[in-house]
Amino acid sequence: MTGQLAGKVALITGAARGQGRAHAVRLAQEGADVIAVDIAGPLPSVAYDSATPEDLAETVAMVEKEGRRVVAATVDTRDLAGLRSAVDGAVERLGRLDVVVANAAICVPSAWDEITPTMFDDTLSINVTGTWNTVMVGAPHLVRAGGGSIILVSSAAGLKVQPFMVPYTTSKFAVRGMAKAFAVELAKHHIRVNSLHPTGVATPMGSGDMQAVLGKAIATDPRLAPMFTNLLPVDITQPEDVAETVLFLASDASRYITAHEIAPDAGVTEF
Ligand SMILES: NC(=O)c1ccc[n+]([C@@H]2O[C@H](COP(=O)([O-])OP(=O)(O)OC[C@H]3O[C@@H](n4cnc5c(N)ncnc54)[C@H](O)[C@@H]3O)[C@@H](O)[C@H]2O)c1
Repeated sequence: MTGQLAGKVALITGAARGQGRAHAVRLAQEGADVIAVDIAGPLPSVAYDSATPEDLAETVAMVEKEGRRVVAATVDTRDLAGLRSAVDGAVERLGRLDVVVANAAICVPSAWDEITPTMFDDTLSINVTGTWNTVMVGAPHLVRAGGGSIILVSSAAGLKVQPFMVPYTTSKFAVRGMAKAFAVELAKHHIRVNSLHPTGVATPMGSGDMQAVLGKAIATDPRLAPMFTNLLPVDITQPEDVAETVLFLASDASRYITAHEIAPDAGVTEF
């Protein structure tokens, strides 16, 4: 078997579509077997369509097309016991775990005074607690494997504030801190932990209805709109662009990179 991840197994949450699917396919192309976790059902508070069981089945088919094994699980990352049971079962079937990509999240943009307690709570519980749950169920398997790489998906909004996203920005700064905190304690097991900070990506979260909702929020203070500008002359990036950075962080090419923020952000955080 060839490839940068030959013989390895990767757990990816939010794998039914968008960036999570791109990560599953790219890591499989480099030889990894995949554990694909997604809620594949209604997401709370969001203004965009939710992922479906068909979306998750499509990810499974795409990984299998690359000749790799895949175990899919329909689980809400907020459900620690359910997530642990799914991941433990999948690791038993696939034999090991080397890479964790905590990617599942939601985004609920709104002007600050239109955010409800439910929106805030939903965002924090999925983006922060769900990410913590993912590390808690994945890391013990990496310890057993003698090392590995954990990638916590934050956002450009976790490096430089982006407007009209109080809950999301709060959650993504938390994820950035969480990566460093885990990196410190897991280093002795040869486990690296980094946070990932993409700019806008063309996925259901980053397009369509979302743009309309964001537009409504921007209308409350148009002076802030340029804060979303990428330094490079591109309006939006593709899931496959982010997947290349995930592959780098998952592979030995980054073997001495830990406790860092890695940003495929087209320079938005310096604009
Ligand atoms: N799209 C962007 O512009 C952008 C920019 C920067 C960072 N991000 C981050 O990238 C990651 C992937 O986002 P995306 O753009 O692919 O969005 P997406 O909405 O297309 O995909 C997210 C996936 O996560 C799943 N998910 C959400 N909550 C879940 C839960 N509680 N349990 C299990 N699965 C759950 C969804 O069902 C969906 O399949 C997220 O962490 C997001 O915050 C996105």
